[in-house]
Amino acid sequence: MTQTIATRFRRLKRTAALRAMVQENTVTPADLIWPVFVTNGTQTRTAIPSMPGVERMSVDLVVAAAKEAHGLGIPAICLFPYTDPALKTQGCEEAWNPDNLSNRATSAIKDAVPEIAVMTDVALDPYNINGHDGIVRDGVIVNDESVEALVKMALAQAAAGADILGPSDMMDGRIGAMRAALEGEGHKDTAILSYAAKYASAFYGPFRDAVGASGALVGDKKTYQMNPGNADEALRLVARDLEEGADMVMVKPGMPYLDICRAVKDGFGAPTFAYQVSGEYAMLMAAGAQGWLDEDAVMMESLIAFKRAGCDGVLTYFAPRVARLLNG
Ligand code: PBG
Repeated sequence: MTQTIATRFRRLKRTAALRAMVQENTVTPADLIWPVFVTNGTQTRTAIPSMPGVERMSVDLVVAAAKEAHGLGIPAICLFPYTDPALKTQGCEEAWNPDNLSNRATSAIKDAVPEIAVMTDVALDPYNINGHDGIVRDGVIVNDESVEALVKMALAQAAAGADILGPSDMMDGRIGAMRAALEGEGHKDTAILSYAAKYASAFYGPFRDAVGASGALVGDKKTYQMNPGNADEALRLVARDLEEGADMVMVKPGMPYLDICRAVKDGFGAPTFAYQVSGEYAMLMAAGAQGWLDEDAVMMESLIAFKRAGCDGVLTYFAPRVARLLNG
């Protein structure tokens, strides 16, 4: 029986060389931003049970990690502080302390490894007695007063040497206010990667353990983070944040929201990032630990999915592991 089939897709799948030739998307270390958790002390590492393989690190160890990341070709590291509960207040004043943990880590990294970009988180939750990203008055997260606090926080981070500010708070008007303040204070080259489309997600659970916010959080974040049922709103938020002066935008969480990544990239052509969040990491690691999934394989497949969906890069806790694998 001889059959003629003109379009045999299997022709280009036959060998590794042919498959590589026609591969449309790739992951390289340059696509990765590595989120790390910073804690007090020196030579201190503490495990985060819901994020196997991830540890909070003291500033000296974060500096060493930044050196390693730079050596692996990772362009950016993103800092999240585990704040001493005694420093949490209603007014979140520690957020703009020039010597807070995050700012100390930023300047230590910029001294030791100036080549790596340092990204910081602009949100009040690590400093807030009630775990919210904004200031709470009579049970309400008050927008405009929160923006004033976030601007002070952003300026302190820029002064400490942060290359990229990551506002993850979802207050209205924060990007414009921060951009104006940065311009006014001589931080004209500080970039903003806006968490523009950030959903109120249950996938952030392990992160809140990592930064010590789980116990503190009163209620939920649905009055400022997005409803998972919405897509058009994500595009309006991205448009608004770019208009207000964001240089790059983010979709968060990642894998359950790849449709949003694609729509954002197609709609704006702006530098677009996804955050593969703590719960996504935890799921893959938990299944790996059971022997139910091949960890390395699902890690790489999950990351190429972001590139295929149009992302320019991904914030991922897997960053050093991916880079080591890619570098052989
Ligand atoms: C809060 C913030 C969160 C994350 C990054 N910044 C959690 C939240 O909004 O409650 C989540 C990251 C992750 O889950 O990995 N400012």
